[in-house]
Amino acid sequence: MPDSVLRVLTCGSVDDGKSTLIGRLLFECGTIPDDVMAALERDSKRFGTVDGATDYALLVDGLEAEREQGVTIDVAYRFFETPARRFILADTPGHQQYTRNMVTGASTADLAILLIDARKGILPQTRRHAAIASMLGIRQVVLAVNKMDLAGFDESVFAAIRYDFRALLGKLEFNRITPIPICARDGDNVTGPSARMPWYTGHTLLHALEAADPRLVQGGLFRMPVQYVNRPDHTFRGYAGTIATGRVRPGDTVFNAGAHTEAAVARIVSMDGDLAEAGAGDPVTLVLDREIDISRGDVLSADPVPAAADGLDSWVVWMDETPLFRGRAYLLMLGTKTVVATITDITTRLDMETLEEVSVRELALNEIGRVSISLTHPVVCEPYETSRELGGFILIDRLTRGTVGAGMVTAIRTRNADIVWHRMEVDKATRSLMKHQKPAVLWFTGLSGAGKSTIANQVEKRLHALGHHTMVLDGDNVRHGLNRDLGFSEADRVENIRRIAEVARLFVEAGLIVIVSFISPYRAERLLARDRVGEGEFLEIFVDTPIEECRRRDPKGLYEKADSGQIRNFTGVDAPYEAPLDPEIRLRTLEGTPDMLADEVVSALRARGNIG
Ligand code: ADX
Repeated sequence: MPDSVLRVLTCGSVDDGKSTLIGRLLFECGTIPDDVMAALERDSKRFGTVDGATDYALLVDGLEAEREQGVTIDVAYRFFETPARRFILADTPGHQQYTRNMVTGASTADLAILLIDARKGILPQTRRHAAIASMLGIRQVVLAVNKMDLAGFDESVFAAIRYDFRALLGKLEFNRITPIPICARDGDNVTGPSARMPWYTGHTLLHALEAADPRLVQGGLFRMPVQYVNRPDHTFRGYAGTIATGRVRPGDTVFNAGAHTEAAVARIVSMDGDLAEAGAGDPVTLVLDREIDISRGDVLSADPVPAAADGLDSWVVWMDETPLFRGRAYLLMLGTKTVVATITDITTRLDMETLEEVSVRELALNEIGRVSISLTHPVVCEPYETSRELGGFILIDRLTRGTVGAGMVTAIRTRNADIVWHRMEVDKATRSLMKHQKPAVLWFTGLSGAGKSTIANQVEKRLHALGHHTMVLDGDNVRHGLNRDLGFSEADRVENIRRIAEVARLFVEAGLIVIVSFISPYRAERLLARDRVGEGEFLEIFVDTPIEECRRRDPKGLYEKADSGQIRNFTGVDAPYEAPLDPEIRLRTLEGTPDMLADEVVSALRARGNIG
């Protein structure tokens, strides 16, 4: 069996003839079992689109239909081989989630086939595919100009497409581009030359794939993200993971990149026993000659070690219906490490028509933009250019746990290392001791007109009467000062709450009981606010009033204005409210007066030991 493997990404839609092309490659390279072939010939006669001849698209589309029933597999990998090498073909379906699938397929590919319909030429989707392929580090492309039969096998049609594609190249980082005129249906220039296009004397598609260079995965310095620490008993301690780049041998010095500690490799343990050497892609367990502190998510590295970043600049491909906003927090997974990450800036996105960068403040579904991120814990990483493994990451929604973005590190920042959090001698504990209370955030959330401010006011009056030290942050008031620059778009509300979360945290440091009263419609930001203070210091109080009741009360006349279209993005009318799923306190305002509900909050504080 040939041992060289080429990973190929196919980009294009079914209309461009993608299934037919893949079907033909699989057919000609002999990986289709006889019974499937017999069924294919039968189906071609019944459903085929090529006048009784074998319709290879049915082959792939059949697999596709099968796949569509199982929602979890987004990318289909198909295998074939020639005497020269083996091929792994990533086939990404062309439906709405194509960007996500394409990113998945592209992140490991050596070469991309960009499929173009000769009659249509370069389309926006061709540019998008080319941009994603380039960004994800694919340096070789085959421009497969298909359906040449429908363009009269005309050399000038092919030449024009080739010319148009060259015009894009200044913006893309491809090293090798091979344009090939094909007719996938009949096989012209796919595996054998075409008698119908004698003017073309270059490679067939299969030849071009055979001549391509696999990516040099063996290159680079040794890096292994630790997947887990294997300690079956006290006699054995090994660090298991898959080597990302480089090679390692017993005796080599390795460093725990984040911690600057070092040790020598004593053994390389694998499924096949101890190894004398291991390299990129190998799953191994390393045993070291001494005990150093290493845990999951750390990266064992050769010198020079990669940096531990607490901030990143990156390209992000956004994959969620809800846009990406500045200020919002996600989980970032890179290598084997997962940390909470906050979007600190969004500056530009790539325009798919021109491949130019345009200024933006948010990223919508399928857009690709430059995003800066700050991390709660340092992450060992490298620019994507240096290492796909330590430079590629995904962003995960903290509540749904869905993957919402994929990113590529362009620059690493360790800036916060210079801004030290001063540990003052008078601290939260001493301040709160003096006030005879345990500080906390009482976070009131609910619809406009639900009664948040009324109850919050009653709570503060009671605490004040009991001699406690409080501070109120109220939406309407803070929006006159600190947050005067913010409106009610989703992005502005995210920023509104992020700032309030930070202010609340500072007041907690001051030892105060902080009463926060904002609609705060998004779960993600309430979670962020909770994370900013200590365990047990955050009480989410859901002021639960049905919208019909808020509408009936309409203290500021705003529902009426929203209903008549005078104000837009009004919570509950044309903007969402995500009710708390598990609040510490739920106040049903239809079932109690503000006085009773305020008493309930004060009793809860007493029960928790915040007040005496
Ligand atoms: S939040 O959504 O960002 O948390 P916040 O609590 O600061 O909102 O402000 C809400 C108050 O602003 C409401 O009580 C109401 O008085 C006023 N307001 C004005 N326009 C809107 C709007 N479009 N949606 C919600 N509240 C609005």
